[in-house]
Amino acid sequence: MKGFRILNKIIAVGFGLFAMALVAVLLIYGQGFDPASSGDGLPTEAPELYQQACAQCHGKRGEGVVNVTPTLRGRGLPPERIKAQIQKGSVKMPAFPFIQGETLERLARYVSGLK
Ligand code: HEC
Repeated sequence: MKGFRILNKIIAVGFGLFAMALVAVLLIYGQGFDPASSGDGLPTEAPELYQQACAQCHGKRGEGVVNVTPTLRGRGLPPERIKAQIQKGSVKMPAFPFIQGETLERLARYVSGLK
């Protein structure tokens, strides 16, 4: 029955490799499909994300820069409008298409609520 033992080994090794490949694929795809990912290595928490992606133009607290960028704080801008602006950008503002899903929702709510 020696032939069978070798066959069993080949099957066991093959199965092991298959399982490892499956785990690797799941890990890679799992990262890509994370709905809370902001992409581009940016943080996902709204305050940190705002500081890294928006503050250099709109000010650390959304105060804006006179004649350069609009004030965001204290205006109660609707989150829907903020989301559209982040996704599409405008004349002088770049779009941030990689900010998506829950991260986009949270950022829009955060900016809307800046006081
Ligand atoms: C390179 C500078 C720059 C960056 C970075 C930037 N913005 Fe802007 N943003 C602008 C400018 C300039 C405007 C005014 C519209 C225009 O001239 O394009 C604007 C307009 C807006 C508006 C519309 C305000 C209104 O009065 O309707 C919102 C909302 C906004 N930005 C949010 C954000 C958020 C959130 C981020 C970060 C993800 C961000 N911006 C990053 C420059 C910037």
